[in-house]
Amino acid sequence: MAGAAVGIRIHHPSQYRSLSGAGAEPREGPWLGSGSMDILIHLFVALHIIGIASLLGGFLTQMKAMGQGAARFVPAMLHGALTMLITGAVLVGLNQADDQAVNNVKIGVKLALLVVILGLVYVKRDEERVEKGLFGLVGALTTANIFIAVLWT
Ligand code: HEM
Repeated sequence: MAGAAVGIRIHHPSQYRSLSGAGAEPREGPWLGSGSMDILIHLFVALHIIGIASLLGGFLTQMKAMGQGAARFVPAMLHGALTMLITGAVLVGLNQADDQAVNNVKIGVKLALLVVILGLVYVKRDEERVEKGLFGLVGALTTANIFIAVLWT
């Protein structure tokens, strides 16, 4: 139709974000407005943090015993590590679905460290006394992941 505006319909203010870059395409089809999507992402970040609390908290309760070589991987650590894996994977998916850039190298490093943590905690879950060095390694890797998560931007 002559003179008709050929263009992009803005359904939601957040769509302006995807129009700002050169060659950016408007979103097509049904999509979750960024309001609901943001809430969903933040919800999973909160669950991710509950996972850290469980993993690191479990570790901290064993610090005194660790000094005597009598620490054990408590269930909270195993469940926390599993929570990190599941919520982390969901967060990657949600961020990609929302067109948010995901730092694959950072996530890859976090995932690699978590696989070591989860492997150790799972294999040794029934041992009543875990060697000091091995137990300390899990705490160190967990702490390293926290710093990687917040400092690597
Ligand atoms: C012990 C292991 C882990 C710790 C301590 C950890 C810690 C954190 C923290 C503190 C945040 C919030 C950072 C912020 O919003 O600035 C975060 C976000 C996130 N984590 Fe993890 N994480 C771990 C494992 C994982 C794994 C295994 C994955 C993926 C498979 C993952 C994926 C993500 C994603 C996608 C985000 C949101 C985007 C970002 O800030 O990078 N995390 N993590």
